[in-house]
Amino acid sequence: MPPRDAPRIVILTGAGISKESGLHTFRDADGIWASVRLEDVATPEAFVRDPETVHGFYNARREGLLDPAIQPNAAHEALARLEQAWPTEVLLVTQNIDDLHERAGSQRLLHMHGELCKARCTFCGATHDWREEMTLESQCPACGRRGGLRVDVVWFGEMPYHMDEIYQALTDCDLFLSIGTSGNVYPAAGFVQEARVAGAHCVELNLEPSEGASLFTEHHHGPASDVVPRYIDRLLAELP
Ligand code: APR
Repeated sequence: MPPRDAPRIVILTGAGISKESGLHTFRDADGIWASVRLEDVATPEAFVRDPETVHGFYNARREGLLDPAIQPNAAHEALARLEQAWPTEVLLVTQNIDDLHERAGSQRLLHMHGELCKARCTFCGATHDWREEMTLESQCPACGRRGGLRVDVVWFGEMPYHMDEIYQALTDCDLFLSIGTSGNVYPAAGFVQEARVAGAHCVELNLEPSEGASLFTEHHHGPASDVVPRYIDRLLAELP
C-alpha cells in the first residue's frame, strides 16, 4: 500500500506501451532489430559511414508514426489521467521516440532517447520540430546550412538526455512503475535499482516478465492497454 500522503511517482516506458497503437517494438520476434541491424542505422558511426541509409530508416519510421491510424492507446491515456489527478509529482520518463504520450496529454515528460519528430543541426546545434523527410539536402532553419541535419534521437554509444533530472527524481520517488520495456538497455534498465535504493515500491507492467523482473516487488503481466488502465484506476481509487 502507498504511504498515507500520495507517493511521488516515477514512470519509465518503453516500446511495449506503443505496440497496441501499431508501432513495432525492438526485440519482439517482429521487432525492428529483427529486420535491420542497429549497427547500420542507430550509431554515430553508421551516420558518418552511410547517412542516406540512416536518414531513410528514420524517415520511414517518422512517416509511419504520422499515419492517422497511429493513435495513443488506453495505456498512454491512463498515464495522462494519472498526471492530471495525482496530488504530488508524477514524472514520466520514456525511452520511446514517438509522440504518443504527448498526444495522450502527458506534460511532465522526458524523452531520454530523443524524439523522432525533432531534428538537430550538427553545425550549429539548434534543434527543430521536424515532421517531413530529412535528407543530406535538408536545410537547417537556424544557420541555413545543408548536409548537417540529423534526427534528434540518442544513438547507441551516445549519452541519453535528462539523466541528472531522472536520477534526482528516482532518488526522491516512493513508487516506480516500469511499463512496456524489456530491461535490456542501460541506463534505463538500471532505474529500478536506483528506485529500490531509494526505498520505492517498484511495479512492472509488461506483456511478460522483463530481464529485470526479479528486481520488482509487484508485477502485472498482460497487454499495456489492459493492465495499465486497471492499475492506474486502482491507484486513483485509493486517493484520500
Ligand atoms: N503491452 C505491454 N508490453 C508489451 C507489449 C504490449 N502490448 N508488447 C510487447 N511488450 C513488451 C515486450 O514483452 C518487451 O518486454 O515490451 C517490451 C519491449 O522491449 P524492447 O523491444 O526491447 O523495447 P524497449 O525496452 O523499449 O527498448 C529499449 O532499446 O533499441 C533500443 O533505443 C531503443 O528505446 C529502445 C531501447
